[in-house]
Amino acid sequence: MDVYNVRAHYSAGSGPPVKAVDDVSLSVSEGEVFGIVGESGCGKSTLAAVMSLTAGRNLTVASGEMALGDHRLPLTEQIRIPKGWRGIQVALLPQRAMNSLNPTARIRDFIVDVVRSHNPSLRPHDAIRQAQERLEQLSLPVRVLDSYPHQLSGGMRQRVVAVISTLLNPKVLIADEPTSALDVSSQKQFIVLLQELLQRGFITRVVYITHDLPMLSNIADRIAVMYAGKIVETGTTSQVIESPQHPYTQALIASTLDIDPQLRGRQIKGIPGAPPDLRYPPSGCRFHPRCSYVMDKCSREAPPIVGDDSRFAACWWTLEQLEKTAVKETER
Ligand SMILES: Nc1ncnc2c1ncn2[C@@H]1O[C@H](COP(=O)(O)OP(=O)(O)OP(=O)(O)O)[C@@H](O)[C@H]1O
Ligand code: SF4
Ligand SMILES: [Mg+2]
Repeated sequence: MDVYNVRAHYSAGSGPPVKAVDDVSLSVSEGEVFGIVGESGCGKSTLAAVMSLTAGRNLTVASGEMALGDHRLPLTEQIRIPKGWRGIQVALLPQRAMNSLNPTARIRDFIVDVVRSHNPSLRPHDAIRQAQERLEQLSLPVRVLDSYPHQLSGGMRQRVVAVISTLLNPKVLIADEPTSALDVSSQKQFIVLLQELLQRGFITRVVYITHDLPMLSNIADRIAVMYAGKIVETGTTSQVIESPQHPYTQALIASTLDIDPQLRGRQIKGIPGAPPDLRYPPSGCRFHPRCSYVMDKCSREAPPIVGDDSRFAACWWTLEQLEKTAVKETER
């Protein structure tokens, strides 16, 4: 899946629009878990809404295109998305998904509603049989079909919603903070389920959105770091975690707690300040008011993209470091 140049903003009354996603492109290969990480309010869920073709009324997608296999789709006309895309090519597991079940309906009735809204010719009995088979294949108890949501634990509800959102075998599952409200063992069960969905080919790509960098480092193949509506760094998980090039990624890693006893002496540094109000994004580099490497030009000029599409950091300081290394190498 390739997503090109997504720009999306919320209208906010008479004030300026909230520029929640600004020129974001990304590429997710088959079999890959692609992680998106960043602080609260940096545009992750907005990007998820655009990519899953579920942008609401007050979110305008000013530009963007998606390519999936041989299909290409403009992302700008979200209400006119052709049938066969939403839930079938791309499915969303929204933030707080476990609360999206209908509290007054048994899981089986909810499944019938959801599946038949995509395929009205499917008989309720067949929709249930399909769900039953899927639960068995994933080693989940079939009895959940007869339960109401309040009869299930939070972890089970989250897994059930993941099963429902992938029943139609979407090519891409976009999971928005799927484990942030779960305890550690439910988190693990959820991750195992996700891996099983991929291995069995029920889905072929996952976009995994989270604040949790340590969790992402365990499950993602590639990571994009978002700040104030933009991707500021991307690369393979080991590149981003082991040799972060952008000051924001470095600050995120430095502010992560580590339970490893060998690292307990490491000083945990918070990131000063807070992400900006996206109605008034800072000029130049949006991270400049918080960056410890800030230079004069950072507040004036947008930072350069240092690297290529698959591995880059958008930063003046990164460019300087690269140039210094190149000079040293030629002097040697
Ligand atoms: N419906 C909305 N109307 C207006 N502004 C919104 C709306 N939803 C989100 N925003 C704003 O858009 C920006 C991006 O929000 P978004 O929810 O995409 O961030 P996020 O990275 O998912 O945050 P979190 O980690 O807290 O879920 C924020 O400034 C937020 O206040
Ligand atoms: S461009 Fe400048 S302000 Fe932005 S992250 Fe790089 S050094 Fe910091
Ligand atoms: Mg969010």
